Amino acid sequence: MERLLIRGGTPLCGEIRISGAKNAALPVMAATLLADGPTIVGNIPHLHDVTTTMELLGRLGVELTVHEGMEVEVNTATIKSLQAPYELVKTMRASILVLGPLLARFGEAEVSLPGGCAIGSRPVDIHVDGLRAMGAEIEVADGYIKGRAGRLRGAHIRMDLVSVTGTENLMMAAALAHGTTVLENAAREPEVINLATCINAMGGRVRGAGTSTLTIEGVERLYGVHHRVLPDRIETGTYLVAAAMTGGEVRLKDTAPALVAPLLDKLRDSGAEVEAGRDWVALRMRGRPRAVDLQTAPYPGFPTDMQAQFCALNAISTGAGSVTEGVFENRFMHCLEMQRMGADIRIEGATAQIRGVERLTAAPVIATDLRASASLVLAGLVAEGETRVDRIYHIDRGYECIEEKLAQLGADIQRVPD
Ligand code: UD1
Repeated sequence: MERLLIRGGTPLCGEIRISGAKNAALPVMAATLLADGPTIVGNIPHLHDVTTTMELLGRLGVELTVHEGMEVEVNTATIKSLQAPYELVKTMRASILVLGPLLARFGEAEVSLPGGCAIGSRPVDIHVDGLRAMGAEIEVADGYIKGRAGRLRGAHIRMDLVSVTGTENLMMAAALAHGTTVLENAAREPEVINLATCINAMGGRVRGAGTSTLTIEGVERLYGVHHRVLPDRIETGTYLVAAAMTGGEVRLKDTAPALVAPLLDKLRDSGAEVEAGRDWVALRMRGRPRAVDLQTAPYPGFPTDMQAQFCALNAISTGAGSVTEGVFENRFMHCLEMQRMGADIRIEGATAQIRGVERLTAAPVIATDLRASASLVLAGLVAEGETRVDRIYHIDRGYECIEEKLAQLGADIQRVPD
């Protein structure tokens, strides 16, 4: 297993490119299962979760061709299996995204119950109940969700909680259902809009993406298209925080600043100078940041996937800030690791009270989930001495070439084998 060694203390300076969004690429790759002809997905990030999705599609018998320039061509004509096996699903929760498309197009699907990040209980009842409402028969047995359906029927579904992949799964299923589906309390994330755009380009009829009510008129068939994945707003936010924490100056290109507005507001509150154009954003921080208060919530609220990185920012800021997690339970494991680096953090229920300290000190730390890993790397970038981050396979699930991009900005970071 590999680890990262980071020597803190260098302000990050320079320019890097932001990759396509993991959380947009995964649902769009699942949506290729809906289309009759080949689909080309562009701006695909090179990540473990993407490789896992490609492996999963490959197991189903789908033909995949990787073209130059981060494009993957998916041809579903050769499909021969409708099962997403445990070995793949356990490493990536988002594998559940194939359930809706497989059921809708082929009338049958078996998907192992998901694993993925260890953040709270993360059930899949919204996915299962929604598909049942559309007429699917679903049983959970032997660790698998086993579904059968004739043609799915449109339904009026009110989801109890705002779920991103839940909304995406049901949207994909409804796209090929007979009749109209209304999804209430839908997720409004940009990645949900990106998926709706893809389905509509395939010939689907999804209306209301970006609002909390989606209306999906099912069609008989969908066709292959060329679709481009939107830039990764979480990767964008992570590098901006890295620059702010190290007192640096960076410019991120090929991104979409409009998607990170709540993050830019918080970074400005923390004292950063932020400038943005259509597809770039630049940040300069002089001196130490100021601690900020925040609460995570579904989009357009502050993203839970940026919570850990802002905990790291607060940990070395002037003043004190409170960070409340409003989406997942049990998402403060990074705080315990940061405490081992000298951070002053008190967890009170769903809130982390963080009093900034002048400097963190390096320690061996363990990454427990994807975004937690990123926050520990950020802490390492400002810590005195050499920080060792173990179990970095989590980082590779969601950050493309993190050590190369950070090194390009001047960080002293290297990946070493165990
Ligand atoms: C997606 C993102 C993930 C992000 C999260 C919240 C992808 C591939 N992953 O995950 O990076 O952190 O949104 O922005 O896009 N819930 C239920 N029942 C369900 C489904 C969810 O109770 O059937 C709960 C979850 O436990 C959680 C909340 O709903 O408390 C939101 O989770 P959800 O939006 O579903 O997260 P994911 O779609 O898995």
